[in-house]
Amino acid sequence: MRLFARSLESSRPTGLTRALLKVADVYVLLRYPQLPCPPRSVMYEGVPSRWVYRRNGLAYLDHLTRMAGLTPNSRLLDVGSGLGRKAWPFIDYFQDGEYVGLEPRREAVDWCTQNLTSRDKRLRFEHIDVKNGYYTPGNSAEAGGFSLPAPDMSFDIVMANSVFTHMLPRDVGHYLAEFQRVLMPGGIAFCTFFLNPEEVKEKEELIAPPRYDFPHQRDGYRVQHADCDEHVVNYEETDVHSMHRQAGLFIAEIHWGSWRGGSTFTDFQDIVISRKRGSPQFHD
Ligand SMILES: C[S@@+](CC[C@H](N)C(=O)[O-])C[C@H]1O[C@@H](n2cnc3c(N)ncnc32)[C@H](O)[C@@H]1O
Repeated sequence: MRLFARSLESSRPTGLTRALLKVADVYVLLRYPQLPCPPRSVMYEGVPSRWVYRRNGLAYLDHLTRMAGLTPNSRLLDVGSGLGRKAWPFIDYFQDGEYVGLEPRREAVDWCTQNLTSRDKRLRFEHIDVKNGYYTPGNSAEAGGFSLPAPDMSFDIVMANSVFTHMLPRDVGHYLAEFQRVLMPGGIAFCTFFLNPEEVKEKEELIAPPRYDFPHQRDGYRVQHADCDEHVVNYEETDVHSMHRQAGLFIAEIHWGSWRGGSTFTDFQDIVISRKRGSPQFHD
């Protein structure tokens, strides 16, 4: 079932997968008619599909609960919230907690506000006028100097899913420092990357070719597409460890993704869980 799900969510679907996805989308439409879901024509992240939108949201709700200790009382900041794929499962979820999504694409913020905030006021979305070479080249602010619109120590969890896979090292380092600033002591950063592991698992069984091979070497990172570095970016695990350390975050766990084609994985991208030193109960 996981393999089947993985092939349906592949960002490079074959003709057969596309046909199966159409069937899966009709199933989701009939079975979950209340699911808020953007029209396929405006979905710009991964494969445009109702089935993927639903499954991706549920998978990350589970990851956040297990890996970041998310509860209905958590304050959660989602940086690069897109079209709310990770946000919709939080409708009617929070008690004392809340969700804030920050996103540089205005039409995505508008869709989320109209379709998610309208159903639950504890989910809020804010436009940030920050530049990204792939998603928002016309925006104003450089990511490397951008202050997130959030007070110091105001969130328990900050997440950036499929965002650092589109950002360059200086900008990622700056964002991690911002995450450290807005997190409570002991708070968790939940970020995804495409990483090259420090220790290659030589005996790991490959069940598929890697989704990306990152043929272009740059200074401190690799990219898939020569014409736009921020389209898809790849980092060395050691560099990501140092970026976190310099920002005052300490990596607790890495959950490897399926993108390399290995047989053991948690999700498509590599999930990096880090912690800000200190805890709400025991300050150090
Ligand atoms: C692949 S989408 C992922 C969206 C969402 N996190 C998800 O998992 O469905 C990447 C998102 O990151 C946003 N983004 C790119 N650069 C950003 C930046 N510097 N700060 C915040 N968001 C950014 C893009 O506009 C886009 O919506």
